[in-house]
Amino acid sequence: MSSPLFDAAKKNAAMAYKLDQGGQAQQAVRYYVSAAEQLQKLINFTDDPNMKNLYYQKAMEYILRVKEIRGIIESSDVKKSSSAAVSPEEDEEISGAISSVIVREKPNVKWEDVAGMEGAKRALREAIILPMSRPDLFKGARKPWKGILMYGPPGCGKTYLCKAVASEVDSTFFSVSAANLISKWLGESEKLVKELYDRAVEESPSIIFFDEIDSLAGARGGSSEGEAMRRVKTQLLQAVEGFGTGEELLVTVGATNTPWDIDAAMRRRFERRVYVTLPTIEAREKMFQIHTRGVELASDVSFEELAKYTAGYTAADIALLCREALMHPIRELDAEGALKDASIQPRAPGIKDFLVGMESIKPSVSPKELTRYEEWKDRFGG
Ligand SMILES: Nc1ncnc2c1ncn2[C@@H]1O[C@H](COP(=O)(O)OP(=O)(O)OP(=O)(O)O)[C@@H](O)[C@H]1O
Ligand SMILES: [Mg+2]
Repeated sequence: MSSPLFDAAKKNAAMAYKLDQGGQAQQAVRYYVSAAEQLQKLINFTDDPNMKNLYYQKAMEYILRVKEIRGIIESSDVKKSSSAAVSPEEDEEISGAISSVIVREKPNVKWEDVAGMEGAKRALREAIILPMSRPDLFKGARKPWKGILMYGPPGCGKTYLCKAVASEVDSTFFSVSAANLISKWLGESEKLVKELYDRAVEESPSIIFFDEIDSLAGARGGSSEGEAMRRVKTQLLQAVEGFGTGEELLVTVGATNTPWDIDAAMRRRFERRVYVTLPTIEAREKMFQIHTRGVELASDVSFEELAKYTAGYTAADIALLCREALMHPIRELDAEGALKDASIQPRAPGIKDFLVGMESIKPSVSPKELTRYEEWKDRFGG
């Protein structure tokens, strides 16, 4: 059993032992940590339960030693807990993994705080808000959407809008990063997906937000792709169509910056597709208002004017620009050392602070990149 990763783990562990034995425990910590992290990766890359277990035991041993060195636990406890370490196959482990991968939250983004995005908002209303508030309207052939794909350039509000939906309706919100799921739990992620959807059915109405869905849904059959990866995809495809009776209100919202990486099978499951792109001038105006709320501005600030100057900016660029501009007066005072005096108040941010901010914060998406999204939209988008 040898691979670059395994060799690296071995080398780190050897180094850690050497330092530890030589009385340099503090210096050993980072080598233990690296070794443990590499073993964790190896666990995901092997399908052999014995090897998984072996890696797991070793990783636990290193982690416990690190805790011991850091004085978090007593040395006597280490012995006990290390021999009682559970196998990674155990269900408890899966439950723990679910909790770590899935963020259950009641997001604090209000529907009114979403500027523009009219098309996307409408699609999500039809898919989620209306069926949940008026289930009587969605009977028979009039079924709510089960899978929605939000695609478009980074920073244009996919995650943000999804949060607003979740805070709008009384539903359980599961938020999963697909990339995270794959990198941390590849061997286990098939079970995780199943468990996740079982829970979502139990606690329906539920919204499952799958971010970076492309990392999970990429074109199938590539040679580099392992068996485990293929199984997760198959599992997810079934899950989106619905386990359970199919009557539960359960919607999967997938988000991606690279829709072209999604294969045909996956595309089909996400029947409703929503293009989330750069904000219009009206939306930008409202974004400036939203992202400066609660701070008094100088009278020369005009949101209308700022919206005109920021063609090509994404929502995230504008949010960042606002933070930067609001920070300027504070930064000035701080540079003078004046903030120590609690009676000194910063001046109100003015138009100049925004203009200066625009010199360093530029549109993060290029027209060329945008073209690629538009092309995909014309072929596959809804
Ligand atoms: N419609 C909107 N109105 C006001 N602010 C917005 C809007 N959309 C996005 N923002 C702001 O932009 C930030 C970035 O948006 P978000 O994280 O949703 O982008 P994204 O499309 O999910 O990006 P990525 O593809 O990188 O995940 C948000 O945190 C929010 O501050
Ligand atoms: Mg996002």
